[in-house]
Amino acid sequence: MDIDFFGETVSLTLIRPDDWHVHLRDGAMLRAVLPDTARRFARAIVMPNLKAPVRTVAEAHAYRERILAARPAGSDFEPLMTLYLTDNTTAAEIERARASRFVHAVKYYPAGATTNSDSGVTDIERCHDTLAAMEALGLPLLVHGEVTEASVDVFDREAVFIERILARVVARFPRLKVVLEHVTTEDGVAFVRAAPATVGATLTAHHLLLNRNALFRGGLRPHAYCLPVLKRERHRTALLEAATSGNPKFFLGTDSAPHARTAKEAACGCAGLYTAHAGIELYAEVFKAAGALDRLEGFASLHGPAFYGLAPNRDHITLIEESWPVPQAIDLASVGISDSLVPFRAGESVAFRIAGVDG
Ligand code: NCD
Ligand code: ZN
Repeated sequence: MDIDFFGETVSLTLIRPDDWHVHLRDGAMLRAVLPDTARRFARAIVMPNLKAPVRTVAEAHAYRERILAARPAGSDFEPLMTLYLTDNTTAAEIERARASRFVHAVKYYPAGATTNSDSGVTDIERCHDTLAAMEALGLPLLVHGEVTEASVDVFDREAVFIERILARVVARFPRLKVVLEHVTTEDGVAFVRAAPATVGATLTAHHLLLNRNALFRGGLRPHAYCLPVLKRERHRTALLEAATSGNPKFFLGTDSAPHARTAKEAACGCAGLYTAHAGIELYAEVFKAAGALDRLEGFASLHGPAFYGLAPNRDHITLIEESWPVPQAIDLASVGISDSLVPFRAGESVAFRIAGVDG
């Protein structure tokens, strides 16, 4: 990794990063958002929470073909597919997934936890044979770590999930690879640090940049609403410390989750932030502000492949510290949707831009 400080302007070249947690959606929305991810990231772990969840290897194969077909001309972006765990996922499906070579993980959504999670797991005890197969075959379990009980405060759902469920899964399946996705609390960071090397976590740029005040800055801000919801400043500080620590358990996962403007700006707005348009640039901002740019390459380009047992990318990306304006909205008319997408930092700016991507 090269970092040059030309006076005030920082330029850095790092091994091309991957996004270890992204929502690419399907159909017209897929065509609208995929170019942003494919420009920055060589590979991405693609979440399976489509309206009809991706539950089987056959469905993952079909979805992968649709993603490949939606790539911009000349792109060699590689989607790393995941299966959506249900109470009924069989050990045989896990064996087919491992044999496929394109399914890289299985996603566990507690039923009702977030967008399109109605067919998620009602009780993880029901999945023990499936988890045993994943452990035996080395297929990682990706966890949306929130309990769903209405009686648990929404800001406590991650901590309660870790205590009640995740700790037990990790103890019961000691060789199972587990990723606590989009970790948002100091409790989550502490759990991952103390857990065996089989346990990792992804961190989003928005949870590293914002605390929960962003939800109420001058009024209610639907475009800052995601799940797990933003937390207190002391949690953000713990996430920042984890991301910039060099600990290989922590790696990049944007959780970019596009929803059309009308679905966000509503009486009951959808959870999810669209960050793919600045998917690596925002992390560069975070690491620069923390004085840790030298740790960005490990976090963005090395720790994730090592966890998943894949080689790092061969190409490189160069970023320079030069501000650019983020549009107020991305019009979706060009893909045939009469709506728009409000990107993260809409109407504001991002401090790093891509200078080039090369082999
Ligand atoms: C995600 C989505 O919209 O699919 N939303 C979000 O707020 N992150 C679902 C998820 O990852 O929880
Ligand atoms: Zn997500």
